[in-house]
Amino acid sequence: MSTADPSTSTDRLEIEGLTATYGPVTALEDVSVPAAPGAITAVLGANGAGKTTLLRTVSGLVRPAAGRVSLGGRDLTGAEPERIAAAGIAHVPEGRGVITELSVEENLRLGSLLGARRPTGSGGRRFDTDGVLELFPALAERFRRPADTLSGGERQMLVVARALLTQPSVLLLDEPSLGLAPRVVSQIFAVLRDLTDAGGITVVLVEQNARSALQVADTGVVLSLGRVVAVDEASALAADQALRHAYLGF
Ligand SMILES: Nc1ncnc2c1ncn2[C@@H]1O[C@H](COP(=O)(O)OP(=O)(O)O)[C@@H](O)[C@H]1O
Ligand SMILES: [Mg+2]
Repeated sequence: MSTADPSTSTDRLEIEGLTATYGPVTALEDVSVPAAPGAITAVLGANGAGKTTLLRTVSGLVRPAAGRVSLGGRDLTGAEPERIAAAGIAHVPEGRGVITELSVEENLRLGSLLGARRPTGSGGRRFDTDGVLELFPALAERFRRPADTLSGGERQMLVVARALLTQPSVLLLDEPSLGLAPRVVSQIFAVLRDLTDAGGITVVLVEQNARSALQVADTGVVLSLGRVVAVDEASALAADQALRHAYLGF
């Protein structure tokens, strides 16, 4: 469970009643997501459920038709993505967008550039290059190599490490486990646990791999066709056989 005390945190993320549309398509309808400081909230659901839209709405890439996003009491609803990032919400999109022509070191430096202007995120842990290389030792071994020589798992580690160097309070992750071997997924999820337990960071973890996500998360939210169909402690969701069969694919 989380260790950060919500009452003392100034960086509580609130996601309340979001509705988002793409033309005639309603991708999210009245979606609220609990995201306690220092906790991992898994957002689960089938392809097309609205998971990516949720993250894009929180990070300002999609403007909601209704609802509210705030961080530490500051209203960020509909704000520009740059402002939301500067406020401390780091979005790691699906697809591991490293800059392949640049080395691992140079990719990390891009995160540091953004982070230099940020105060230390919640939990008081400030990340530097050595710190993220300690979290992901595989990156230390590849430090001077071009990012296009990295495996899928290493690229995922690199985008998470780069995001941490922006000194976020909140990390939004879209399907980080997609296509990775179970062993690599476990490594990455263990780092997420460490970030929340020791670093006080708030993680919103979007996953189709519900089984693994519920093992690492504190709380889970299940979306179907843009609506919340379940929200509970992760262990309770994992124990609900009917829910698992209907929505979680395991
Ligand atoms: N750019 C877009 N334009 C139109 N419809 C979209 C767009 N992106 C997503 N959608 C639709 O919104 C719904 C939710 O999609 P998405 O948020 O990508 O779900 P998930 O990430 O859970 O697979 C789907 O019906 C999808 O087809
Ligand atoms: Mg998606």
